[in-house]
Amino acid sequence: MRKHNITLEVSNLTKKYNDFIAIDHVNFTVFNGEFLGLLGPNGAGKTTLVKIISAAIKPSEGIITINGHKIHEEPGEVKKSIGVVSHNSYLYEELTAYENLEFFGKIYGIPSKELDEHIKWALESVNLQHRSHDAVSTFSRGMKQRLSIARAMIHHPKLLILDEPTVGLDLQSKNIFYDLIKEINKSGSTIFLTTHYILEAETLCDRIIILSRGKVVLEGKVTSIKEQYPNMTFEDIYLEVTKSGAKL
Ligand SMILES: Nc1ncnc2c1ncn2[C@@H]1O[C@H](COP(=O)(O)OP(=O)(O)OP(=O)(O)O)[C@@H](O)[C@H]1O
Ligand SMILES: [Mg+2]
Repeated sequence: MRKHNITLEVSNLTKKYNDFIAIDHVNFTVFNGEFLGLLGPNGAGKTTLVKIISAAIKPSEGIITINGHKIHEEPGEVKKSIGVVSHNSYLYEELTAYENLEFFGKIYGIPSKELDEHIKWALESVNLQHRSHDAVSTFSRGMKQRLSIARAMIHHPKLLILDEPTVGLDLQSKNIFYDLIKEINKSGSTIFLTTHYILEAETLCDRIIILSRGKVVLEGKVTSIKEQYPNMTFEDIYLEVTKSGAKL
């Protein structure tokens, strides 16, 4: 039966690279409209998890269901209902912002009659309409990041997946970027964000999952976690649970 309030369901997920277990029997659910943060030290398995839920690589075991579609059964349907922002911007430097979005809009199968409307909406959402006819090669890093978001949301995805989207951005650009993500979240998209910035996760996310050595070591609402560990800062809680991959 379709669970209508669930955007993403990860069930018994394991990923092995040869003998190395990068993701170890992970289970979690993300509900419609949630802002979920995935934290964890280098090598914890965050990008591996992002790649699996983006249908870019296959798991060794387990089932992923996104917007009611199982990835292994309907990868095409899943890809249509998600947007992904990762380390690779996938933007073409020599093309303009508009041309890039036109290219990706066609890949997502947006009908040509509607394409211009989608592109203008996406450019306005990331506040780049004034640069729409400039080549991406003339953009700053922050502008490229914002255009990556526009690319990821051009087809109005229900789930936006972001893997460390603010790496290399200055404080102002980070704030602009996160205001934008908050707006996208408020307008109804579910957000799945990985980050190393504990404070950002604490202030932005409804719920967080901490991964360590491929296992979930802590999961819960930010407010509940703080109540659970009243005398610790969020950073201390994070350091404690990820110390040895063991539980607190
Ligand atoms: N293609 C691959 N082949 C073999 N091992 C891999 C591959 N990709 C990732 N790994 C290993 O899987 C583990 C998890 O890597 P992953 O990139 O998912 O971590 P991460 O949590 O995203 O780390 P970071 O915070 O540094 O981005 C690491 O030990 C990494 O070396
Ligand atoms: Mg990573």
